[in-house]
Parts: sequence; C-alpha cells; structure tokens
Amino acid sequence: MEVKIFNTAEEIAAACAEIFAEQLIKKPDSVLGLATGASPVKTYNELIKKCKNGEISFSQVKTFNLDEYCDLPRDDKNSYYTFMHENLFNYVDIKEENVHILDGNAADADKEAADFDAAIDEAGGIDIQLLGIGTNGHIGFNEPSDSFSDGTFKVKLTDSTIKSNSIYFENDSMPRFALTMGINSIMKAKKIVLIATGEAKADAIKATVDGEVTPICPASVLKNHSDAILLIDKEAAKLL
Ligand code: F6R
Repeated sequence: MEVKIFNTAEEIAAACAEIFAEQLIKKPDSVLGLATGASPVKTYNELIKKCKNGEISFSQVKTFNLDEYCDLPRDDKNSYYTFMHENLFNYVDIKEENVHILDGNAADADKEAADFDAAIDEAGGIDIQLLGIGTNGHIGFNEPSDSFSDGTFKVKLTDSTIKSNSIYFENDSMPRFALTMGINSIMKAKKIVLIATGEAKADAIKATVDGEVTPICPASVLKNHSDAILLIDKEAAKLL
C-alpha cells in the first residue's frame, strides 16, 4: 500500500483526477468504482474539467457506486443517486444506462445486492475504485466488525457513521441502514485509490497504515491489495 502526503485537498484532487484520467486514456471503456461524501467532490470537479476540455471522455465508461442509503427516495437530496448526478454525471458525457447505483428501496435487498455484484462481474470487474474513509475506518459502509464482509449486502449503520453523516439530514431523519459493496467486492478492484483529508481522519489513517489488518478497522485490509494508494493531507497523516 502506497501512501502519498499532500499539503491541500486541491493537490489531492488534482493527483487523484490525474490517476483516473490516465486510466480512461489507457482504457476508454473502463469500469469505475465511485464514492460519495465530501472527500471525492473536488476530484469530480477536476474530472468534469478534463472532460469538458476533451482530455477524457466517459462515453464508454461504466460506473458502480459503493453504496446507497436504504429507505430514502432515489430523488431525495441526500440520496447517493442525487449526489452522483449533481457532482459528476450531469456534467460529463456518461450514458445513464452505464451508471449503476444500488436501489436502497429494493423490496428484496439480498437480490438487489447479488444482482449488483453480478453486474460488476459481467462488466469485467472494476478497473479502478475510488474510496473515502470513515472516522471509524469504514470503507463503503463496511463498518468495524468481527469479520471482513464478502459481496454487496445490507448493513446497519453504526452510531459513529450516523453522527458523521447526520449533518446532512434534518432532525432525526438520517437512514439507519444502507446497501454497500462488501470488502471482497472492493478488494476485487484492480486498482484502489483512497482519499482522506483533515484531522478527524487521523486515527483511522493511523490504524489503516500502521495497524494490523483487522476488520475492526475495515480500511486496514487495503494492505493486502497489490495496487492500493492512499492520497492524504498532512492533517490526516499527523499520527503516522
Ligand atoms: C461514500 C462512502 C463512505 C465515505 C466515508 C467518508 O460512498 O462509501 O465510506 O467515503 O464515510 O465520507 P466523507 O468523505 O464525507 O468524509
């Protein structure tokens, strides 16, 4: 696992967008694993710029998002479906049929999860996966646990995640469950790029980089991946 430390979130976004651009130039029909949350927003802005200036195109790209809340309408302002369209898809030349976002309202969550994993396999697997990291070390919504998860599944969110993400929700309306790609689905990606900024992520980054591989810090599993890179700022790196 490679770790690169930067001064600012802008520098991280530029470096991350460059990695994704190289991938798209090398393989225009790449399969991208994408993340939501605050961390990737600046990277998506950079990718939009690169698409608008003709450096890259998403016209043959397929995307699979890491996760989606359960029990939230797809067009809710806080759904990850809405997030991805407002922060990337509406501004690039991607075909809507190539966008894959889990349906958190599916009547049969297990079938939705299995179909999602099958669609990733059918697309040829994820070429490059973008990740953020929770303050508790989660990736996707793989929360600290006794064992590493396998494929996509329905998860109960932890109090720590509910606390971190409830800033986006009014009153107590933050969903308590989500569908998420599992650790094994994430680890099957050919390349993984994790971005983290700010002091709040320092403990999780310390456990990921310097700790043992344990499902108590799900991101620590990235040490077992042959092509994983962490792009982090000085604040997130302050305990290393
Ligand atoms: C989002 C996701 C989460 C976030 C993590 C960090 O799709 O899977 O694991 O990456 O919670 O969120 P931010 O970037 O908002 O700090």
